[in-house]
Amino acid sequence: MAVPKDAVWDRDPHTAAKHDLLQQYLKAWAPILLSRHDVISYAEGFAGAGVYKQGEPGSPVIAYNVFADALLHRSPKRMRVILMEEDARRVEELQRQMALVHCLHTDDITKRLAVDIRHGDFHPALLEKLRSIGALGKPLFVLLDSFGGPDIPYSLLHELGRYPSTEVMVTFEPSFLTRFAENHDGHRQLGDEAFGSREWQAVFQQPSSHKFTFLREQYRDTLRQAGFTHTLYFEMVDEGGRKLYLIFGTQHERGLEKMKDAMWKVDPSYGVRYRDPRDTQQQMLDLEFEPDTAPLRRILRDFISEAPNGLTIPELKQYALLETVYRPAQVISTVRQLREAGVVTTQPRAINVKTRVTLAAAPPTTNPPAEQGALW
Ligand SMILES: C[S@@+](CC[C@H](N)C(=O)[O-])C[C@H]1O[C@@H](n2cnc3c(N)ncnc32)[C@H](O)[C@@H]1O
Repeated sequence: MAVPKDAVWDRDPHTAAKHDLLQQYLKAWAPILLSRHDVISYAEGFAGAGVYKQGEPGSPVIAYNVFADALLHRSPKRMRVILMEEDARRVEELQRQMALVHCLHTDDITKRLAVDIRHGDFHPALLEKLRSIGALGKPLFVLLDSFGGPDIPYSLLHELGRYPSTEVMVTFEPSFLTRFAENHDGHRQLGDEAFGSREWQAVFQQPSSHKFTFLREQYRDTLRQAGFTHTLYFEMVDEGGRKLYLIFGTQHERGLEKMKDAMWKVDPSYGVRYRDPRDTQQQMLDLEFEPDTAPLRRILRDFISEAPNGLTIPELKQYALLETVYRPAQVISTVRQLREAGVVTTQPRAINVKTRVTLAAAPPTTNPPAEQGALW
């Protein structure tokens, strides 16, 4: 997507998918955290205008509505929303949009849902603001949704990652670095600041087909270095064919699980797809009501084959959660399919937490007979 010049611009399908994902996740995040804490915070470094050309809501408005619902019946719990935007025209529009959405909710809600809109460069102002209101160290979700950068300094991620209850979601667009940084000192320096080291520069030695994947995995490593032990990415292609990644970082397995639930709920009509990094065939996955679990079957088969004594269902679920794009809830039906195809055996036969799954004595060859073809 060319960077829009107007204060308000058209919402493209990948933005709609991003909003769907954000909304689904916040709908889980806010109630869980509010049930245990008196006050939680949400921040955006790149808030935008709060609205798109055809009147569709921007991320701050979407988040506000989710939080207003979450605060219903949870008095006296409170939320703080901090929004930064550097374009003065967008700030003005954002103020108008936030005032409009404010009017849709009762006084009881709005006085417990404080919104602070700041005009200016997000860094270091956002961090200073979060520190000054005591939001660091308490539950905090930070959306850093730039046009793709690289413009998020590693030092900011590192500071946020020091606090276990902070989660981040960052937009990362790899093509700027692969196209323009190799022969440009200034651009390479932007990359170094974003990644917090120079290791990403090995991208210049990667084959073209591998460059984006390489940078995506480097960026996930960057988030891990910053303290976000679990990361998940969401691949989007804009209408100009440019690849963008939304990368989520958390220090909690529960956060990871809820983000995966959100991923699989995104409206498939936006055409967003996933690819599991562990799938040797790198199959693209359409989001469907019945998701395609063929890659999960391959991944679990490979994982089970490395364990001579087999693995339990909880071990397989943990692996699916931490190492794949799939959800633990998808494991049991996948094991059942593997067993029906003669790939694994289960002991006992009933599949529950005590079941041990072992590779079958004579697994099918890599060219399965025709009737099993559909499985792979
Ligand atoms: C992708 S848009 C944000 C869209 C918004 N998150 C949404 O989903 O509705 C990025 C925004 O960041 C703003 N921006 C760019 N650089 C910035 C900076 N250094 N500090 C704060 N805002 C910035 C742009 O003006 C633009 O409005």
